[in-house]
Amino acid sequence: MSRVALVTGGTRGIGAAISVALKNAGYKVAANYAGNDEAAKAFTAETGIPAFKWDVSSYEACAAGIAQVEAELGPVEILVNNAGITRDAMFHKMTPEQWNAVISTNLSGLFNMTHPVWSGMRDRSFGRIVSISSINGQKGQMGQANYSAAKAGDIGFTKALAQEGAAKGITVNVICPGYIGTEMVRAVPEKVLNERIIPQIPVGRLGEPEEIARCVVFLASDDAGFITGSTITANGGQYMI
Ligand SMILES: NC(=O)c1ccc[n+]([C@@H]2O[C@H](COP(=O)([O-])OP(=O)(O)OC[C@H]3O[C@@H](n4cnc5c(N)ncnc54)[C@H](OP(=O)(O)O)[C@@H]3O)[C@@H](O)[C@H]2O)c1
Repeated sequence: MSRVALVTGGTRGIGAAISVALKNAGYKVAANYAGNDEAAKAFTAETGIPAFKWDVSSYEACAAGIAQVEAELGPVEILVNNAGITRDAMFHKMTPEQWNAVISTNLSGLFNMTHPVWSGMRDRSFGRIVSISSINGQKGQMGQANYSAAKAGDIGFTKALAQEGAAKGITVNVICPGYIGTEMVRAVPEKVLNERIIPQIPVGRLGEPEEIARCVVFLASDDAGFITGSTITANGGQYMI
């Protein structure tokens, strides 16, 4: 029987590539999203992967959404915490709303999603948690005190939880992508991309969403059972840690 994988923010960008790669690897996949119904509909029509709408910043919504996914597909054995947002501002201009929105989605979202699936994974003695952090959680980024704090928090969360899950067959890992060619990054003016961003990347190009997806597929597999608490950097050499 194929395992069930749930990908938050799984209908667009990196998350969509992860959903498709997991499906191609033989998993039953559920893709969560927040509000872009049109993109979710198009994604399901194209891939056949069902989409489920809820906000990862709400614990109650996550518990209800996961219950629905489990009723339709079976117990979640692979959870990919990918949903994330930015609300950039220099710190002296950052509002409490910008701070709270990013912390509650990008950091508390990991608690809200992982907590409801954790006991089932412990009971079944198998689980895979893979979270998508960011290079900016490792090195910090001007204008992103909220985002960098949340993404650094994702790494600490992973290291702590990996220790709790290890004896129960649950691995917990985090991937830190650098600049990936999603809609968000491709929207940056070409001049800025070519003159300011790409020169900082030793491999000389943006990453592809599929390159992050392949890391997830590996971490989800039985082959990766000895890898837990790891931070995988996938940034074209931009920041080495
Ligand atoms: N792109 C990059 O270069 C890059 C680099 C490093 C790290 N990352 C991280 O990688 C992850 C994916 O980034 P991306 O560029 O692929 O983003 P994206 O294209 O903006 O897609 C984000 C996805 O997350 C969903 N989402 C946002 N807030 C949500 C919420 N509160 N509840 C449920 N779903 C929510 C969105 O749903 P809707 O479609 O409904 O809006 C969408 O499906 C993020 O965690 C991001 O921080 C990205």
